Amino acid sequence: MRKKPLILGIETSCDETAASLVTENEQGIPIVLSNIISSQIDVHKEFGGVVPELAARSHIDKIDWIVQKAINESGKKIEEIDAIATTAGPGLIVCLSVGLNFGKALAKIINKPFIAVNHLEGHALSPKLDSRLDYPYLLLLISGGHSQYLSVKSFGKYKRLGTTIDDALGETFDKTAKLLGVEFPGGPQIEILAKRGNPKKYDLPKPIFNKGGCNLSFAGLKTAILKISKTIKSEQDKFDLAASFQNIVEEILNKKTKIAFDEFEKLNNPKNKIFVIAGGVAANIKIRSMLIQLCEENNYQSKFPPIEFCGDNAAMIAMVGLEKFKLKQFNNLDFPAKPRWSLDEDAVFLKGAGVKLQ
Ligand code: KG4
Ligand code: ZN
Repeated sequence: MRKKPLILGIETSCDETAASLVTENEQGIPIVLSNIISSQIDVHKEFGGVVPELAARSHIDKIDWIVQKAINESGKKIEEIDAIATTAGPGLIVCLSVGLNFGKALAKIINKPFIAVNHLEGHALSPKLDSRLDYPYLLLLISGGHSQYLSVKSFGKYKRLGTTIDDALGETFDKTAKLLGVEFPGGPQIEILAKRGNPKKYDLPKPIFNKGGCNLSFAGLKTAILKISKTIKSEQDKFDLAASFQNIVEEILNKKTKIAFDEFEKLNNPKNKIFVIAGGVAANIKIRSMLIQLCEENNYQSKFPPIEFCGDNAAMIAMVGLEKFKLKQFNNLDFPAKPRWSLDEDAVFLKGAGVKLQ
């Protein structure tokens, strides 16, 4: 039996220092041998958000032992690793550089190939970490820095169907949490507060709801939350605002996903209709159940990564590395950090004033 590839993945694009060893079974399903994540919540808590310089310093402090721990916990030896896959973008350049330099140096020392991975491709393929994933599929990527609908034709072939024209959904969850007095990172707390509130209490805007195809916009929603948060008098008002926000987000995603379904079908005419939802916000249980129901109504198979692989992790990076290893897609050691690396490099930039939507 041929030895299956063993890949070390490294992730330092934002505020998680992570390393993981991944291989695969005879059916080609990845096996995660170790998955070490060190979050920097304590470092950034007092600032209410990620401070790039502090994040980079923390990556520098931890990267050696996180990688060492990932190797130890996998039960493998460093000599058995076949390639090193590292996130090269998108993300904060000072943070990306830490993992990238470490990964390149280690690849050179152990004389194994180096593979640069797009962080978003890690999220895009993350459901593959525990199940089979066939192409083509429609992808909704909702994270702290990105909100996009993409048609994924095959490995590495992405066409963007829609994107946020301003803020990302995860960022909007975090901002809403901050305005409600929830400590950073507050996004995940919103759905907990929302359970105790009235979702119809506050009338919130749905920017570009009736135009712009499946593009998204959350800046106007953030501003409305800011205004209302100043009028909050009781704990119940807080629960009601969280519930109203959670509810409007579901309404927006419901409508925009239906449009994305149409665009995806026109483009691919797929035999099996598959919808993948990935990124940190995919951990939101109510968004999950709304999208699962929408899939049932529209004959789609819904696919989510396991909850522990929704947020940033290195297993998804090692897994993309594994796919690239099998295709011999290696990179030179001068591969740069790419803070704005997008999955569809042909897509037009759709942010800021002057953007025209129909
Ligand atoms: O994918 P991720 O870990 O990092 C990025 O690549 O951005 O996503 C982090 C984002 C944060 O904004 C966080 O608030 C959000 O995902 N998030 C959630 C939930 N869990 C994480 N948002 C809503 N509901 C959740 N349960
Ligand atoms: Zn991410």
